[in-house]
Amino acid sequence: MTFSRILGTGGYLPERVMTNADLEAIVDTTSAWIRERTGIEKRHLASEGESCCDLAEAAARRALEAAGIGPDDLDLILVATTTPDQFFPSTACLLQQRLGNRGAPAFDLQAVCAGFVYALSVADQFIRTGAARRALVVGAETISRLLDWNDRTTCVLFGDGAGAVVLGASDEPGIVSTHIHADGAYKDLLQVPGGHGNGRPEARFLEMRGNEVFRFAVNTLGRIVDETLDANGLSTADIDWLIPHQANIRIIQATARKLDLPMDRVVVTVAQHGNTSSASIPLAFDEAVRDGRIRRGETLLMEAFGGGFTWGSALIRY
Ligand code: COA
Repeated sequence: MTFSRILGTGGYLPERVMTNADLEAIVDTTSAWIRERTGIEKRHLASEGESCCDLAEAAARRALEAAGIGPDDLDLILVATTTPDQFFPSTACLLQQRLGNRGAPAFDLQAVCAGFVYALSVADQFIRTGAARRALVVGAETISRLLDWNDRTTCVLFGDGAGAVVLGASDEPGIVSTHIHADGAYKDLLQVPGGHGNGRPEARFLEMRGNEVFRFAVNTLGRIVDETLDANGLSTADIDWLIPHQANIRIIQATARKLDLPMDRVVVTVAQHGNTSSASIPLAFDEAVRDGRIRRGETLLMEAFGGGFTWGSALIRY
Protein backbone atom coordinates (compact mmCIF):
# COMPACT_ATOMS: atom_id res chain seq x y z
CA MET A 1 0.00 0.00 0.00
CA THR A 2 1.02 3.59 -0.57
CA PHE A 3 0.71 6.29 2.07
CA SER A 4 1.58 9.99 2.28
CA ARG A 5 4.47 11.05 4.45
CA ILE A 6 5.29 14.59 5.57
CA LEU A 7 8.61 15.46 3.89
CA GLY A 8 8.86 19.09 5.00
CA THR A 9 7.01 22.01 6.55
CA GLY A 10 7.16 25.79 6.13
CA GLY A 11 5.46 28.88 7.47
CA TYR A 12 5.37 32.59 6.83
CA LEU A 13 3.90 35.56 8.70
CA PRO A 14 3.88 39.03 7.13
CA GLU A 15 6.24 41.55 8.75
CA ARG A 16 3.58 44.09 9.72
CA VAL A 17 2.39 43.47 13.29
CA MET A 18 -0.74 44.77 14.99
CA THR A 19 -0.74 44.34 18.77
CA ASN A 20 -3.78 44.38 21.05
CA ALA A 21 -2.64 47.83 22.20
CA ASP A 22 -2.71 49.02 18.56
CA LEU A 23 -6.32 47.82 18.34
CA GLU A 24 -7.29 49.93 21.37
CA ALA A 25 -6.76 52.97 19.13
CA ILE A 26 -9.05 51.58 16.42
CA VAL A 27 -12.06 50.07 18.22
CA ASP A 28 -13.61 50.19 21.70
CA THR A 29 -11.61 47.34 23.24
CA THR A 30 -8.79 46.66 25.69
CA SER A 31 -5.67 44.50 25.49
CA ALA A 32 -6.83 42.68 28.60
CA TRP A 33 -10.26 41.83 27.12
CA ILE A 34 -8.71 40.38 23.97
CA ARG A 35 -6.08 38.43 25.89
CA GLU A 36 -8.51 37.03 28.47
CA ARG A 37 -11.31 36.10 26.05
CA THR A 38 -9.17 34.81 23.18
CA GLY A 39 -5.53 34.32 24.23
CA ILE A 40 -4.44 36.54 21.32
CA GLU A 41 -1.59 39.06 21.93
CA LYS A 42 -0.90 40.20 18.37
CA ARG A 43 -1.59 39.42 14.74
CA HIS A 44 0.36 39.90 11.49
CA LEU A 45 -1.23 41.75 8.59
CA ALA A 46 -0.33 41.70 4.91
CA SER A 47 0.93 45.12 3.83
CA GLU A 48 -0.59 47.04 0.98
CA GLY A 49 0.58 45.34 -2.18
CA GLU A 50 1.34 42.07 -0.41
CA SER A 51 -0.86 39.30 -1.79
CA CYS A 52 -2.12 35.96 -0.57
CA CYS A 53 0.13 34.34 -3.20
CA ASP A 54 3.14 36.20 -1.75
CA LEU A 55 2.49 34.61 1.64
CA ALA A 56 1.81 31.20 0.06
CA GLU A 57 5.04 31.38 -1.94
CA ALA A 58 7.19 32.17 1.11
CA ALA A 59 5.71 29.27 3.10
CA ALA A 60 5.89 26.91 0.11
CA ARG A 61 9.56 27.66 -0.57
CA ARG A 62 10.42 26.94 3.08
CA ALA A 63 8.52 23.66 2.98
CA LEU A 64 10.22 22.62 -0.28
CA GLU A 65 13.63 23.45 1.18
CA ALA A 66 12.87 21.43 4.32
CA ALA A 67 11.70 18.52 2.13
CA GLY A 68 14.88 18.73 0.04
CA ILE A 69 13.01 18.73 -3.27
CA GLY A 70 12.41 21.32 -5.98
CA PRO A 71 9.21 22.66 -7.55
CA ASP A 72 9.70 20.44 -10.61
CA ASP A 73 9.36 17.38 -8.39
CA LEU A 74 5.78 18.32 -7.45
CA ASP A 75 2.93 16.56 -9.22
CA LEU A 76 0.12 18.22 -7.25
CA ILE A 77 -0.28 21.77 -5.89
CA LEU A 78 -3.19 22.53 -3.57
CA VAL A 79 -3.88 25.87 -1.91
CA ALA A 80 -6.52 26.10 0.81
CA THR A 81 -7.67 29.71 0.92
CA THR A 82 -10.71 31.86 1.61
CA THR A 83 -9.01 34.94 0.21
CA PRO A 84 -7.79 34.11 -3.31
CA ASP A 85 -5.98 36.95 -5.05
CA GLN A 86 -8.16 36.76 -8.14
CA PHE A 87 -11.46 35.13 -9.13
CA PHE A 88 -9.26 33.20 -11.51
CA PRO A 89 -6.71 31.86 -12.12
CA SER A 90 -6.67 30.08 -8.77
CA THR A 91 -4.07 31.05 -6.18
CA ALA A 92 -2.63 27.56 -6.73
CA CYS A 93 -1.99 28.40 -10.41
CA LEU A 94 -0.49 31.78 -9.46
CA LEU A 95 1.76 29.96 -6.99
CA GLN A 96 2.68 27.34 -9.57
CA GLN A 97 3.84 30.09 -11.93
CA ARG A 98 5.93 31.72 -9.17
CA LEU A 99 7.56 28.44 -8.29
CA GLY A 100 8.20 27.60 -11.94
CA ASN A 101 6.42 24.26 -11.92
CA ARG A 102 4.68 23.41 -15.20
CA GLY A 103 2.08 20.74 -15.82
CA ALA A 104 1.17 19.53 -12.34
CA PRO A 105 -2.53 19.86 -11.50
CA ALA A 106 -3.03 22.95 -9.32
CA PHE A 107 -6.24 24.09 -7.68
CA ASP A 108 -7.67 25.97 -4.70
CA LEU A 109 -9.85 24.46 -2.03
CA GLN A 110 -12.27 26.58 0.01
CA ALA A 111 -13.30 25.23 3.40
CA VAL A 112 -12.43 28.35 5.42
CA CYS A 113 -10.67 27.49 8.70
CA ALA A 114 -10.90 23.74 8.04
CA GLY A 115 -9.32 24.30 4.62
CA PHE A 116 -5.89 22.93 5.42
CA VAL A 117 -7.23 19.67 6.87
CA TYR A 118 -9.55 19.35 3.86
CA ALA A 119 -6.63 19.93 1.46
CA LEU A 120 -4.45 17.47 3.33
CA SER A 121 -7.23 14.90 3.02
CA VAL A 122 -7.56 15.49 -0.75
CA ALA A 123 -3.79 15.33 -1.34
CA ASP A 124 -3.64 12.14 0.72
CA GLN A 125 -6.25 10.52 -1.57
CA PHE A 126 -4.20 11.50 -4.64
CA ILE A 127 -1.09 9.91 -3.17
CA ARG A 128 -2.84 6.77 -1.84
CA THR A 129 -4.36 6.09 -5.28
CA GLY A 130 -1.06 6.69 -7.08
CA ALA A 131 -2.36 9.79 -8.90
CA ALA A 132 0.46 11.86 -7.35
CA ARG A 133 3.76 11.11 -5.64
CA ARG A 134 4.79 14.51 -4.32
CA ALA A 135 2.24 17.11 -3.29
CA LEU A 136 2.49 20.66 -2.00
CA VAL A 137 -0.35 21.59 0.35
CA VAL A 138 -0.59 25.24 1.40
CA GLY A 139 -2.97 27.12 3.69
CA ALA A 140 -2.71 30.85 2.92
CA GLU A 141 -4.93 33.75 3.94
CA THR A 142 -5.16 37.51 3.86
CA ILE A 143 -8.29 37.29 6.00
CA SER A 144 -7.68 40.80 7.40
CA ARG A 145 -9.11 42.10 4.12
CA LEU A 146 -12.50 40.55 4.95
CA LEU A 147 -12.69 42.33 8.31
CA ASP A 148 -14.82 45.31 9.25
CA TRP A 149 -12.31 47.33 11.28
CA ASN A 150 -15.22 49.06 13.06
CA ASP A 151 -16.56 45.75 14.42
CA ARG A 152 -14.76 44.95 17.68
CA THR A 153 -16.48 41.56 17.96
CA THR A 154 -14.61 40.21 14.90
CA CYS A 155 -11.65 42.41 13.92
CA VAL A 156 -9.63 41.54 17.03
CA LEU A 157 -9.71 37.81 16.29
CA PHE A 158 -8.01 37.32 12.92
CA GLY A 159 -4.65 37.72 11.20
CA ASP A 160 -2.84 36.88 7.95
CA GLY A 161 -0.29 34.17 7.24
CA ALA A 162 0.57 31.00 5.36
CA GLY A 163 1.76 27.50 6.19
CA ALA A 164 2.70 24.60 3.94
CA VAL A 165 3.65 20.96 3.90
CA VAL A 166 5.22 18.79 1.23
CA LEU A 167 3.92 15.23 1.09
CA GLY A 168 5.69 12.28 -0.53
CA ALA A 169 4.58 8.73 -1.33
CA SER A 170 5.83 6.16 1.16
CA ASP A 171 5.35 2.48 2.05
CA GLU A 172 4.35 3.44 5.59
CA PRO A 173 2.10 6.14 7.04
CA GLY A 174 2.51 9.10 7.17
CA ILE A 175 -1.01 10.24 7.19
CA VAL A 176 -2.86 7.46 8.99
CA SER A 177 -6.38 8.79 8.43
CA THR A 178 -8.27 11.98 7.66
CA HIS A 179 -11.88 12.77 8.53
CA ILE A 180 -13.76 15.69 6.99
CA HIS A 181 -17.34 16.91 7.41
CA ALA A 182 -19.61 19.85 6.67
CA ASP A 183 -23.10 21.01 7.57
CA GLY A 184 -24.36 23.95 5.53
CA ALA A 185 -27.39 24.28 7.82
CA TYR A 186 -25.14 26.51 9.93
CA LYS A 187 -24.16 28.80 7.03
CA ASP A 188 -25.47 31.97 8.72
CA LEU A 189 -23.45 31.70 11.94
CA LEU A 190 -20.11 32.56 10.37
CA GLN A 191 -20.04 34.08 6.93
CA VAL A 192 -19.04 36.72 4.44
CA PRO A 193 -22.47 37.09 2.85
CA GLY A 194 -21.56 38.81 -0.41
CA GLY A 195 -19.89 37.69 -3.59
CA HIS A 196 -20.11 38.07 -7.34
CA GLY A 197 -22.16 34.87 -7.69
CA ASN A 198 -25.07 36.35 -5.73
CA GLY A 199 -24.60 39.84 -7.13
CA ARG A 200 -23.68 41.34 -3.76
CA PRO A 201 -19.94 42.02 -4.03
CA GLU A 202 -20.29 44.93 -1.60
CA ALA A 203 -21.25 42.67 1.36
CA ARG A 204 -17.65 41.63 1.84
CA PHE A 205 -17.18 41.73 5.61
CA LEU A 206 -17.00 38.76 7.92
CA GLU A 207 -20.05 38.33 10.19
CA MET A 208 -20.16 35.97 13.14
CA ARG A 209 -22.45 34.92 15.96
CA GLY A 210 -19.52 34.39 18.32
CA ASN A 211 -21.20 32.63 21.23
CA GLU A 212 -22.97 30.08 19.04
CA VAL A 213 -19.82 29.44 17.00
CA PHE A 214 -17.88 28.93 20.22
CA ARG A 215 -20.32 26.32 21.59
CA PHE A 216 -20.62 24.46 18.32
CA ALA A 217 -16.83 24.44 17.84
CA VAL A 218 -16.12 22.92 21.25
CA ASN A 219 -18.72 20.16 20.80
CA THR A 220 -17.75 19.38 17.23
CA LEU A 221 -14.02 19.30 17.87
CA GLY A 222 -14.56 16.89 20.77
CA ARG A 223 -16.57 14.61 18.46
CA ILE A 224 -14.11 14.71 15.56
CA VAL A 225 -11.27 13.78 17.86
CA ASP A 226 -13.27 10.83 19.25
CA GLU A 227 -14.15 9.76 15.68
CA THR A 228 -10.47 9.83 14.70
CA LEU A 229 -9.26 7.90 17.74
CA ASP A 230 -12.07 5.30 17.40
CA ALA A 231 -11.36 4.78 13.69
CA ASN A 232 -7.79 3.85 14.54
CA GLY A 233 -8.39 1.98 17.81
CA LEU A 234 -6.36 4.58 19.72
CA SER A 235 -6.84 6.54 22.93
CA THR A 236 -5.67 9.98 23.98
CA ALA A 237 -2.62 8.36 25.59
CA ASP A 238 -1.40 7.42 22.08
CA ILE A 239 -1.32 11.07 20.91
CA ASP A 240 2.00 12.87 21.36
CA TRP A 241 0.78 16.24 20.06
CA LEU A 242 -2.56 17.85 19.42
CA ILE A 243 -2.24 20.55 16.74
CA PRO A 244 -5.57 22.39 16.85
CA HIS A 245 -6.88 25.17 14.66
CA GLN A 246 -5.72 28.34 16.41
CA ALA A 247 -8.93 30.37 16.82
CA ASN A 248 -9.27 30.99 20.53
CA ILE A 249 -7.26 29.64 23.48
CA ARG A 250 -10.50 28.90 25.35
CA ILE A 251 -11.74 26.64 22.52
CA ILE A 252 -8.34 24.89 22.48
CA GLN A 253 -8.35 24.43 26.28
CA ALA A 254 -11.93 23.13 26.27
CA THR A 255 -11.07 20.55 23.61
CA ALA A 256 -7.95 19.46 25.50
CA ARG A 257 -10.01 19.14 28.72
CA LYS A 258 -12.61 16.99 26.95
CA LEU A 259 -9.82 14.74 25.76
CA ASP A 260 -8.10 14.73 29.13
CA LEU A 261 -4.95 15.88 27.33
CA PRO A 262 -2.52 18.08 29.31
CA MET A 263 -1.83 21.46 27.67
CA ASP A 264 1.90 20.69 27.42
CA ARG A 265 0.99 18.21 24.67
CA VAL A 266 -0.96 20.82 22.71
CA VAL A 267 0.77 23.11 20.20
CA VAL A 268 -0.52 26.64 20.86
CA THR A 269 0.51 29.60 18.70
CA VAL A 270 -2.70 31.64 18.77
CA ALA A 271 -1.13 34.35 20.98
CA GLN A 272 1.36 35.19 18.24
CA HIS A 273 -0.91 35.44 15.19
CA GLY A 274 -4.60 35.11 16.10
CA ASN A 275 -6.88 33.15 13.82
CA THR A 276 -5.19 32.82 10.43
CA SER A 277 -7.94 30.51 9.12
CA SER A 278 -6.55 27.79 6.83
CA ALA A 279 -2.96 28.84 7.63
CA SER A 280 -3.25 28.24 11.36
CA ILE A 281 -2.59 24.49 11.59
CA PRO A 282 0.38 24.38 9.19
CA LEU A 283 1.86 27.46 10.91
CA ALA A 284 1.59 25.80 14.34
CA PHE A 285 2.89 22.51 12.93
CA ASP A 286 5.89 24.20 11.31
CA GLU A 287 6.78 26.12 14.45
CA ALA A 288 6.75 23.01 16.63
CA VAL A 289 8.79 21.03 14.07
CA ARG A 290 11.39 23.79 13.75
CA ASP A 291 11.77 24.39 17.50
CA GLY A 292 12.31 20.66 18.04
CA ARG A 293 9.14 19.89 20.01
CA ILE A 294 7.73 17.56 17.36
CA ARG A 295 10.10 14.72 16.47
CA ARG A 296 10.09 12.05 13.78
CA GLY A 297 8.04 9.00 14.79
CA GLU A 298 5.61 10.93 16.99
CA THR A 299 1.84 10.72 16.59
CA LEU A 300 0.05 13.98 15.79
CA LEU A 301 -3.62 14.83 15.77
CA MET A 302 -4.76 17.90 13.84
CA GLU A 303 -8.30 19.23 14.19
CA ALA A 304 -10.06 22.23 12.69
CA PHE A 305 -13.39 23.94 12.53
CA GLY A 306 -14.62 26.71 10.23
CA GLY A 307 -17.42 28.56 8.48
CA GLY A 308 -19.90 26.42 6.61
CA PHE A 309 -19.74 24.81 9.10
CA THR A 310 -16.81 22.66 8.02
CA TRP A 311 -14.65 20.55 10.29
CA GLY A 312 -12.06 17.83 10.08
CA SER A 313 -9.07 16.04 11.49
CA ALA A 314 -5.90 14.27 10.45
CA LEU A 315 -3.99 11.61 12.35
CA ILE A 316 -0.33 11.61 11.37
CA ARG A 317 2.69 9.53 12.25
CA TYR A 318 5.41 12.11 11.75
N1 COA B 1 -13.50 44.24 23.30
C1 COA B 1 -14.26 44.51 24.38
N2 COA B 1 -15.49 44.01 24.54
C2 COA B 1 -15.98 43.21 23.59
C3 COA B 1 -15.24 42.88 22.44
C4 COA B 1 -13.97 43.44 22.30
N3 COA B 1 -13.18 43.20 21.24
N4 COA B 1 -15.98 42.07 21.68
C5 COA B 1 -17.15 41.88 22.32
N5 COA B 1 -17.14 42.57 23.47
C6 COA B 1 -18.19 42.67 24.48
C7 COA B 1 -19.56 42.29 23.95
O1 COA B 1 -20.15 43.39 23.29
C8 COA B 1 -20.30 41.92 25.20
O2 COA B 1 -20.71 43.08 25.85
P1 COA B 1 -22.14 43.13 26.59
O3 COA B 1 -22.05 42.08 27.66
O4 COA B 1 -22.18 44.52 27.10
O5 COA B 1 -23.15 42.82 25.54
C9 COA B 1 -19.20 41.28 26.06
O6 COA B 1 -17.94 41.71 25.49
C10 COA B 1 -19.25 39.78 26.09
O7 COA B 1 -19.42 39.33 24.76
P2 COA B 1 -19.49 37.82 24.41
O8 COA B 1 -19.74 37.67 22.94
O9 COA B 1 -20.43 37.11 25.35
O10 COA B 1 -18.01 37.37 24.77
P3 COA B 1 -17.39 35.93 24.71
O11 COA B 1 -16.77 35.62 25.99
O12 COA B 1 -18.33 34.94 24.09
O13 COA B 1 -16.20 36.12 23.66
C11 COA B 1 -15.65 35.69 21.39
C12 COA B 1 -16.49 36.53 22.34
C13 COA B 1 -15.93 36.17 19.98
C14 COA B 1 -14.19 35.89 21.72
C15 COA B 1 -16.05 34.21 21.54
O14 COA B 1 -17.45 34.05 21.47
C16 COA B 1 -15.43 33.34 20.52
O15 COA B 1 -14.23 33.16 20.49
N6 COA B 1 -16.23 32.70 19.65
C17 COA B 1 -15.72 31.84 18.62
C18 COA B 1 -15.17 32.67 17.50
C19 COA B 1 -14.32 31.90 16.56
O16 COA B 1 -13.42 31.20 16.97
N7 COA B 1 -14.59 32.05 15.27
C20 COA B 1 -13.84 31.46 14.26
C21 COA B 1 -14.11 30.00 14.20
S1 COA B 1 -13.14 29.30 12.96
